[in-house]
Amino acid sequence: MAILVAADFASDEWAAWWPCLEAALPGERLVRDRSACRAEEIDIALVANPPAGALQGLASLKLIQSLWAGVDRLLGDPTVPATVPLARMVDPAMNRSMAETALWAMLSLQRGFFGYAAQQRQRRWQPHAPVRAGEQTVAVLGLGQMGSCVALTLAAHGYRVLGWRTRGVGLDGVATQAGASALPQVLAQAQVVVNLLPLTAATAGLFSAGTLATMPPGSSLVNLARGAHVVDADLLAALGSGHIAHAVLDVFHTEPLPVDHPFWSHPQVTVLPHVAAPTDPRSAALVVAANVRSLREGGALSHCVDRARGY
Ligand code: NAP
Ligand code: GLV
Repeated sequence: MAILVAADFASDEWAAWWPCLEAALPGERLVRDRSACRAEEIDIALVANPPAGALQGLASLKLIQSLWAGVDRLLGDPTVPATVPLARMVDPAMNRSMAETALWAMLSLQRGFFGYAAQQRQRRWQPHAPVRAGEQTVAVLGLGQMGSCVALTLAAHGYRVLGWRTRGVGLDGVATQAGASALPQVLAQAQVVVNLLPLTAATAGLFSAGTLATMPPGSSLVNLARGAHVVDADLLAALGSGHIAHAVLDVFHTEPLPVDHPFWSHPQVTVLPHVAAPTDPRSAALVVAANVRSLREGGALSHCVDRARGY
């Protein structure tokens, strides 16, 4: 049998991934190009933004393993076989990267470091009154793999942390609420909102004018999940009115962010090029190997997506 790796990797990414996959999957036949073997030999596909149709006609396929944590694009692609188990990437190393990014954003907002960076460009020496971590409330939307690591890291740093998810299961030190009806109360208490929701039918466009209006005046948004969670025009309007003080955005409707997009030069927006928690082939290949081994040995697959929920 063979494992197809279907990814839109640049050549340096292939160069990083291939030796890690080969080392983690000894004895497995890895192919990048479908024509390197017969279609019926391919029983596993490892995917990262595969081109549409890449998984069609693979009658023996038993596992689609995403190399990304978010599977919204795969679920939105009608050519991805809907009856084959789809596992997503869950890697503690990625969760820690996400927590580092969220902590950096939170510290920068709390201590005014984004403002000081702007002052430097103006050669302006102007200290501002300090704000303590304990005086800041942050709401983490989504308390899954990434969100729970982020929430616990922020709580350990002294912030008051609120959490929001579909179920009422809380975390130590994180006051958690569940369900759509609780969202306004959560947002209304937060100086900073960190978005770590999956992109689903229920969460697309969540940050519209109405939601942004429930955040307190002068609060900030940190979007580390998906660009389509945000209605860009509504966020720009909320930034323009000063209702939202700052937005840290790692993800966008179109990536790379088009050069003429207003976010690039907006003084209240910090843009990152989708680097909050990149998949690290060194650890991710081991995660892949564990699921491949389970499949080969007839064990249970880990981190399978619930297609009905969309995550
Ligand atoms: P996850 O483990 O599936 O967690 C998702 C969380 O969102 C869960 O806590 C879930 O609630 C909650 N949730 C889902 N739908 C909801 C709704 N309608 N209302 C309230 N809560 C809802 O996902 P993850 O691994 O933490 O990843 C989250 C997202 O981060 C990914 O989908 C991806 O888009 C993004 N991501 C971004 C980067 C980056 O570099 N920027 C890297 C990796 C991932 P329950 O716990 O109650 O089910
Ligand atoms: C990155 O955005 C991921 O979903 O892994």
